[in-house]
Amino acid sequence: MAKVLLAVTGGIAAYKAIDLGGSLRKRGEEVRVIMTKAATRFATPLTFSAVSAATVYTDAFETENGIILHTTLSKWADILVVAPLTANTAAKLSDGIADNLLTMTALAFEGPKLAVPSMNVRMYENPVTVNNLLKLQRNGWNILEPSYGHLADGEYGKGRYPENDNILFEIDRITGPNDFKDVNVLVTAGPTQEPIDPVRYLTNRSSGKMGYEMAKAAKVRNANVYLISGPVDLKTPYGVERKDVKSSEEMKEAVLEKMEWADVVIMAAAVADYKPVFISEQKIKKNSDELNLHMAKTSDILMEISKVRRPRQFVIGFAAETQNALENAKHKLKSKGLDMIISNDVMRTDIGFDSEYNEVTVLCKNGDAVRLSRNKKCSIAKNILDIVKTHRVKLP
Ligand SMILES: Cc1cc2nc3c(=O)[nH]c(=O)nc-3n(C[C@H](O)[C@H](O)[C@H](O)COP(=O)(O)O)c2cc1C
Repeated sequence: MAKVLLAVTGGIAAYKAIDLGGSLRKRGEEVRVIMTKAATRFATPLTFSAVSAATVYTDAFETENGIILHTTLSKWADILVVAPLTANTAAKLSDGIADNLLTMTALAFEGPKLAVPSMNVRMYENPVTVNNLLKLQRNGWNILEPSYGHLADGEYGKGRYPENDNILFEIDRITGPNDFKDVNVLVTAGPTQEPIDPVRYLTNRSSGKMGYEMAKAAKVRNANVYLISGPVDLKTPYGVERKDVKSSEEMKEAVLEKMEWADVVIMAAAVADYKPVFISEQKIKKNSDELNLHMAKTSDILMEISKVRRPRQFVIGFAAETQNALENAKHKLKSKGLDMIISNDVMRTDIGFDSEYNEVTVLCKNGDAVRLSRNKKCSIAKNILDIVKTHRVKLP
């Protein structure tokens, strides 16, 4: 867990950083907070201290037991996060001005730095601010761009404080291992829908959560991630490019289109095995006691992939089974020519479908098998990537 020094400046969004401090604390991160004088006009140090379980510092000259705050804090932190960053402090930081605890600490800090500028759109687009932010970037700062939207004063434009989830993501990315940098990762996730008539379809019980966590985990490690998603109710992970598809046929087309690009292919989608042969143009009426659907096999996407895959492309399948999970997964690993397969038992109610948790066995082409015991899907995804990393380097 990282030691995060959260610095808050006097913008209207200062109150939103309270929740950021709280989220960092919940994740088990150690947090200390610096507030500028102006920041204390928008949110109180007491609130920050209570929500983040953190000591809050506001005055460089109020030393404790002879400790010089700016040098001590700059040595303590793993990452400095300025959220929100005002135009005023951006100007000071870009010029090396050190006239308060935050600017002094930033100047002394040698680790990774993240700034989250947030202000009125005209302040943000003013060439002076644009230049200051560019200068900060050139000096090694990571800048998380503000969002578009309604601003505090009723205007609309770029300048809004971004979602705290995106800031947390950036903290993870910056402090993370960076070991998938420049690797192109293609992920499929979610169910498919096979139409019966204009109002009905056949689908399967997949929330898409595991695939989305795989996409997010790869992005955090600086991969380029392209996510092909069936219909799900999930937010696109920050920084991930997403293409939405519905049917298994659309999923297949989308995957084949990206095969040349991909270095790692993670097939986590639950693709229908069968689809109706005839799609009724009109809604099928409830006129008879029985209705027989004539079904045909859908295309086998993993098989299609095996025909076009290029050397050193690492392909991972998922096997959700209700019985003989490991045996079935081993068979699929071999028959589809995969490098790795992730097997899970979907009969269990405490993991799998819709759950935040999973428990899986990772089977590798060379016979290695790793059991990942019940954990949050985000942790399972991270562990799977660790295994992918070691096996990928062994590819001929
Ligand atoms: C109501 C109000 C809202 C403000 N909101 C912002 C803001 O969102 N972003 C910004 O850059 N400055 C904003 N300012 C201006 C800063 O508070 C001002 O520049 C201050 O000197 C910043 O000090 P600091 O950078 O030391 O925190 C606001 C000022 C007021 C009065």
